[in-house]
Amino acid sequence: MTLRHSYDGEVSRPNYSCAGSLVGWSTRLITGRSQVQVLPRALLHLVDGVFRGIVTRKEHEGSAFRLHQGNRMVVLSGSNSRLLAEQLAASLGWEHHQLETRRFPDSEGYIRIPSETIEAVRKEPVVLVSNTFPDAGIVETLLMLEAINDVRKGNMENLREIGPQNMDDVGPGILLAVPYFGYSRQDKRFKPGEAISARAIGHLLASRCDGIIVFDLHAPSVLEDLSVPVAFTSAMPELALHLQETVQPDFILSPDKGAIERASTVAKKINCEFSYLEKTRIDAHTIVHKAKDLDVDGKTVAIVDDMIATGGTICRAAEALRNQGAIAVHAACSHGLFTGGAIARLIRYVDGVHATGSLSNPRDVISGGPALARGVNELFERLEWSQ
Ligand code: R5P
Repeated sequence: MTLRHSYDGEVSRPNYSCAGSLVGWSTRLITGRSQVQVLPRALLHLVDGVFRGIVTRKEHEGSAFRLHQGNRMVVLSGSNSRLLAEQLAASLGWEHHQLETRRFPDSEGYIRIPSETIEAVRKEPVVLVSNTFPDAGIVETLLMLEAINDVRKGNMENLREIGPQNMDDVGPGILLAVPYFGYSRQDKRFKPGEAISARAIGHLLASRCDGIIVFDLHAPSVLEDLSVPVAFTSAMPELALHLQETVQPDFILSPDKGAIERASTVAKKINCEFSYLEKTRIDAHTIVHKAKDLDVDGKTVAIVDDMIATGGTICRAAEALRNQGAIAVHAACSHGLFTGGAIARLIRYVDGVHATGSLSNPRDVISGGPALARGVNELFERLEWSQ
């Protein structure tokens, strides 16, 4: 099936020459007399792969790459993670290159590796920093991986015949760093027939890269059986340092059992007291905490969580802390989603809100670069081709 879009936004009728096969579906942009393929076959291969449950990446297996000490590799980003990509590049001492991203009038995305970046992408391994949130981030990430794969494999054919059309395959070397892994919420099947979204997105991404770095993923177990290695990294060390320098808490609180590991890491790093609450979520906006005596009278407390969305979890925990005598309460997290007026709600309950820039947000005060750099280094140690 071939779907054609004209450059001025006119969509011509689909030609169902390959009806029934997702793999044969491509979208073409007609620019004057030439046609440039803009929605890659790979996206559709991937969807096809997920449907069949067989998503693997085999093209580069067998080739070898030796990582040279001191080489300046490349960090790439698209539209959603530029700042973090710059922070990662600074942490590693690598170059950062921005890919061209724009939207067609019908809102579909377009991406291109600029000519001046092509050589850099082929020369050394690359790390693409991109979020799978919101939904458009998933498509953009896949399109960028597709373009990077083509360039590294030497598939350069283009209808304008610009530059060499084919080059050598330079082998494996594509890492994907996902600061905020969108679709991580549905990591289990609670009722029959539900999609395990986190696993589906994980397989899609794994099919187009050689390794994935994920930053403070809520439930890492969901990405443990992917076809490429995954490094789970965390910004808690930087978050601890930030709290120590700005808030000097006496007490760290995990607002639920799920955040105990992260929050207790922070408490240990800054050598202060720690406890946790037991939370029950009634619905997206209603949180109930089990009553618990906390030794917080006269103390400054920081509540540490992986993400803040509506702010409900933090507001309820802050209420419990104030009722027990806390004199100051701060909220800190890796992922500041801050949905539906969360900041306005939070500032009625806490004295400060601190987040990383894994997502663009108004409380981005903690660099995520060092955490991503630790993940990249871990993967380089684990990947055979980088030895
Ligand atoms: C859930 O267990 C997470 O760790 C967060 O506590 C939760 O997503 C925060 O959501 P909200 O801000 O909407 O309460």
